[in-house]
Amino acid sequence: MKELTLPSNPGPIGVFDSGYGGLTILQKIRELLPQYDYIYLGDNARTPYGTRSFEVVYEFTLQAVTRLFEMGCHLVILACNTASAKALRSIQMNNLPIIDPKRRVLGVIRPTVEIIGQLTQSRHVGVLATPGTIKSESYPMEIHKLYPDIQVTGNACPLWVPIVESNEAGNEGADYFVRKYISELLSKDNQIDTVILGCTHYPLLLPKIQQYMPAGIRIVAQGELIAQSLKNYLMRHPEIASQCTQGNSCSYCTTESEEKFIESASAFLSENINVQHITLE
Ligand code: DGL
Repeated sequence: MKELTLPSNPGPIGVFDSGYGGLTILQKIRELLPQYDYIYLGDNARTPYGTRSFEVVYEFTLQAVTRLFEMGCHLVILACNTASAKALRSIQMNNLPIIDPKRRVLGVIRPTVEIIGQLTQSRHVGVLATPGTIKSESYPMEIHKLYPDIQVTGNACPLWVPIVESNEAGNEGADYFVRKYISELLSKDNQIDTVILGCTHYPLLLPKIQQYMPAGIRIVAQGELIAQSLKNYLMRHPEIASQCTQGNSCSYCTTESEEKFIESASAFLSENINVQHITLE
C-alpha cells in the first residue's frame, strides 16, 4: 500500500457509496445532524458494486475510505450495504490498525437490523438487496446475533440499482422488475411481515415498492435508522465527535464526470451542489 499522509486536524464526516444511493442516507443524516461538515464520495465510474466479487468490493472500498481520510475525515460512513457487507469488517480489522487506529469506519447493516426485533410480529423477515449483499449472508448473520428466533429470507434484486442509476425509477418499465422481485421474495416465505430494503438505492423506488407490496407488510428503509444511529454514536463517542468539524457544509466527489453526477444526483437532491472529479487507485 502507498505511503499515506493524513491530516491530523478535525475534518468533515465522510459518506461513501458506490454511486448515488448513499445520497438517500446522507440526506437523512444531514436532516438530523445539520451542524456537521460532510464529504460525499460516489464511485460512480465503477458502480454497481452489487455484482462484484468480495475482493474487488474490498479493494475499491478501501481506496475510497483511504481517500476520504486523506481529505481530512476521521469518521467515514459506508452508506452502501454491499460495501458494508463485503468490506467493512476487513477494513476495521486489517487496515485501520495500520492506517490510523483512531479513525473510524461504520457501516449500515448493524444499525438497520437492531430495530428489526421490535418491528416483526410473525418473526419472519425479508431482505431485498443486491446480489452481493444477499450472497454475503450479512443480514441473516447480523439479525441472528441479536434475534436468533427470527427467520430471515433474502432475495436479490439485480436490476433495481441499474434502474435507479439510469433515472428510470419513476417510469413504467420499472414496474415489472419491482413486482417480480417482491413476488419472488414472498413466494419463498409467505409469513414475512417486515421487509428490509437493504440497499441505499431502493428508497428511490419506494412509491412502486409500496404499490406492489401486499398490505400489512411493513417496509423498512434505512435513512432515518442510520441517521439516528450516527447521532447516538457521536454522543457515545465524544472523542470521535470532537474530530468532526461543524460548519454546516457538504461537498461532493465523484469518480465519474462532474456534469453527469450533477445531472443524476438531481433525482436525489433538491439543492445546487459543487462536485469535484477524483480518481481512486
Ligand atoms: N447502494 C449500494 C448498496 O446499498 C448498491 C449499489 C451497487 O450495487 O453498487 O448496496
